[in-house]
This record gives sequence, structure tokens and C-alpha cells, in this order.
Amino acid sequence: MRTYGCQMNEHDSERIAGLLETDGLEEAESFDDADVIVLNTCCIRENADNKLYGQLGNLKKLKEERPDLQIAVGGCLAQKDRDVIQERAPHVDVVFGTHNVGRATDLLDQARVSGPVTEIIEESASFPSALPVKRDANHAAWVTIQIGCDNSCAFCIVPSVRGKEISRPYSELVSEVEQLALTGVTEITLLGQNVNSYGRDLTLKLRGTELTAEACQLVGENWVRGPHTARPLFSDLLCSVAAVSGIRRVRYTSPHPKDFRPETIAAMARVPEVCEHLHLPLQSGSDKILSAMHRGYTADRYIQKVVAARDEIPDLALSTDIIVGFPGETDLDFERTLEVAAEVRFDNAYTFVYSPRPGTEAAESLEQAVPAKTSADRMERLRKVIERTSLKGNESRVGREEEVIVEGHSKRDNGMLSGRTRHNRLVHFPADRVIRPGSYAQVRVTEARTFNLIGELVEVTAKAKHRTRIPVVSS
Ligand code: SAH
Ligand code: SF4
Ligand code: F3S
Repeated sequence: MRTYGCQMNEHDSERIAGLLETDGLEEAESFDDADVIVLNTCCIRENADNKLYGQLGNLKKLKEERPDLQIAVGGCLAQKDRDVIQERAPHVDVVFGTHNVGRATDLLDQARVSGPVTEIIEESASFPSALPVKRDANHAAWVTIQIGCDNSCAFCIVPSVRGKEISRPYSELVSEVEQLALTGVTEITLLGQNVNSYGRDLTLKLRGTELTAEACQLVGENWVRGPHTARPLFSDLLCSVAAVSGIRRVRYTSPHPKDFRPETIAAMARVPEVCEHLHLPLQSGSDKILSAMHRGYTADRYIQKVVAARDEIPDLALSTDIIVGFPGETDLDFERTLEVAAEVRFDNAYTFVYSPRPGTEAAESLEQAVPAKTSADRMERLRKVIERTSLKGNESRVGREEEVIVEGHSKRDNGMLSGRTRHNRLVHFPADRVIRPGSYAQVRVTEARTFNLIGELVEVTAKAKHRTRIPVVSS
């Protein structure tokens, strides 16, 4: 399995891997040992497309040497390119989209008998909750709370490849988290393209209907008892998930600034399990560009939301996504982005050069394109601002004791362990003793770097407890 793209795709891969294992396959060490290769693709930027076709080119020789090898391509790029994939790479056996991950093994079986197959469907009826999942980590789990996106940001291809927004039923989500907690999972990340609109479709569906127990399952008790507005239920969901016994950390990504609500800030402030980390995508600091992007907020509005969050949640870490070189972005527009970034003091930022995506509104504005060299220069300047504020944020942690969840040995240095703080900062500390991944420890921060912290172990506060536990039911 190779996964490209976002956490949503990573989680889909966990489902595809779960299905393949149920079908009797095991994880292979490398492509050379594999009988089946699945590429779960992304198309958010053009380099994601290029990466995939490059990878498929590399796999051609392998397929020639071993014709029994099956190659499947799924995910967002498959949803976008459909038949083009097998036209460009005829050695691909199966192409499936974002709405039929549950069909992966059936399609592989079908291709074995009757040759290459492409199956893309337009819309999901619902999220494939019943699929088995093979998770990478035992202590942390992603939970998809909604699929698709109802926004229409001018640069973004996600709505066309992930479909319209569909929220998963409230009680289904809570019981999924309960099940995860029973297996020893202590950290949950709720996933959606616009998590703050979670439940909007569910509550609209219930308008004018009787509020039965069934409704309660769909939208949660609070909504059924409270004022029956079509208000999103995200903050309620945060609280319910955090209340599940055994869950120690709750994260979520991504909220959209236009829908980021006071209730969510209040829940983050009040509920200790919800980590003090907010990933709030800014995209641009220029009102002109934000409007052309159809983001639905101004830079001032964005800053106000950050100020409100910082007022209520002391010690909040803030990260963001920013695009440079959106069509029509002038030097002045870009200066605004730098100013907002410096004012807000991001702890981290994912920065992207705008990439035109076929079928999106912004891709039509060829005459307004920003030259590649200009975008590259702007990116460099933006990166410097982000690195400065990020280092400052990290420096402010030196001398403090932080709770970390241990992830394992550091990738670069086997003598060090790595863990994540509640802010999602990476901390490396000497591995003086054996600590199982998933354990919680207090670490004193001794040094700050731009992208991570160095520290020393104070004590282990909770040992990892993931093992399959059989719940005992008393009679
Ligand atoms: N739903 C999330 C974003 C998902 S895409 C949200 O609205 O916040 C993740 C990030 O990719 C976006 O925040 C944006 O910064 C970047 N991105 C999306 N489309 C892009 C494009 N065409 N070119 C460059 N970056 C893009
Ligand atoms: Fe794309 Fe905008 Fe939806 Fe995010 S909110 S997925 S950027 S359309
Ligand atoms: Fe994610 Fe890429 Fe699809 S960012 S939603 S995998 S286009």
C-alpha cells in the first residue's frame, strides 16, 4: 500500500488494508515481494498527479517480470482521471474511486478472472463504517466524521472528487470511539474537510419530523433536547467523544474559519481531553484574494477568531495552511499574507504554491497566473516568517514539563525516543529506558529547534495498554 495525500486518504488506506487482510493477504516488505500493490492517490496539486504517474512508470517493469502481480489505483486521482489511468498505464489491473473503497478486494478478484477493470461511482450513499480497519498505530486512531465538502473554494478539487458533505450518525461515531478505547486507543483525531459543519445535513433532514429515539441516534441527545435549529453539532460531538472512558486526547482537522464557532472554542477550553491545538487554514492574508478564493471570511475576521480562541484557551498552539501565487496575487496581496502570518504567530504552517486544478474556477484564470519564479520567491519569504514564529513558539517551551505520548524510536537516532505534546510538537529525548509506544510520559524540554524540541524524561505517567481486551459482561 502506498498512500498519497491527506489524513482522510491515510484512513481510507487503513480500511483498504483491513479488507486485503481479511481477504488473506499480509503486508509485504517491499514492492518486490508484493502480490498486490495498491496506490491510494491524491490530486490536490499537480505534483501529486506527476508523482503517481512516475510511480506507475516504475512499476511497469515489475509487472512485465511478474505478470501475476496486481496493481490497483484508488483515491482522489483515480476518481478524477478514471479511464485515463489505464489508458496511460495499461499495466494497472484495477481502478477504483473514493466512493467505493469497500469494493477493492472484489474488483481485484474480478480483474484476476476477466482482466483490467475501472469502477468509479459518483456519490456515496453513506460512509463504509462496517469495513475492517488495519491501523498503523495502536494507541491513536483517526475517525472520519463526515465525507465530502459542500464549499466551493475556487482553487480546490476536493468537492469534485469527494462529493457532497455527508455526516456520519452521531451515535455511530461515539460507539466507534468506545470500541477503539476498548482496544487501548487513547488518542482520537476527528477528520472532515469542514468539521465545524458536522451535522448540518443531519439536522436539516430532521426538520419538521418527530424527534424520536432514532433522531437521537442520528444527531445526539443534546440536539434533540435543546433548541431544534440546524446548528452544527461539532462541539457536542467533541464533548461526547472526549467523555468516552479511556480517551485522553482528542484532536480534529480541519475546521473552516468561516464556520469555526464559539461553541467549539468553549468545548476546547472546557474539556480537558480536547488538545489545545487548532489547525485553522488561512490560505491568504489579502481580502481581495480571500474573496476570489470564495473563502467567506476576511483577514480581520480570521484574526478575530484566533484572538477569541486564544482568550479562552490559554496556551493554544496554532497551525495553518497557506497558498502563495493564487491567480491575481500581487506583491501587495502577498505582503498582507506575511503581515497576518507575523501577527498571528503560527506555530506551524503547511505552505503551498498554487497549482491549477482542472475543472476548478481558479484554473480558468490563466491570464492572471503568477509566474513560477515569483511564487517561489514568495514561498521562500513566507517560510522564513513561519520558521521564525515556529522557533519562537518552540523556545517558549524550554524549561517546561510537557506531557508526551511516546511514538517510538526517533527515525534519525535510535538512541532517542520521540513523542508528541498536546500541542502536537515533536519532542526527542534520550531513550534511557524501554518505553512502549503509546505510553504517556512527562518530559522536561531542554532545547528548542525550528521543527522540534529536545528534552529529558521526567517520568512515565501511563503505560501503553493496547491489547485486545475482552469486555466482561456481568450477569
Ligand atoms: N478542507 C480543508 C483543506 C483540504 S486541502 C480546508 O478547507 O481547510 C489541504 C490544503 O491544500 C488546503 O488548505 C490548501 O492550502 C491546499 N490546497 C488545496 N488546493 C490547492 C491548490 N490547487 N494549489 C495549492 N494548494 C492547494
Ligand atoms: Fe477544498 Fe474549501 Fe472544501 Fe477545504 S473547504 S476541501 S479547501 S473546497
Ligand atoms: Fe485528501 Fe488529496 Fe483527496 S488532500 S481529499 S487525498 S485530493
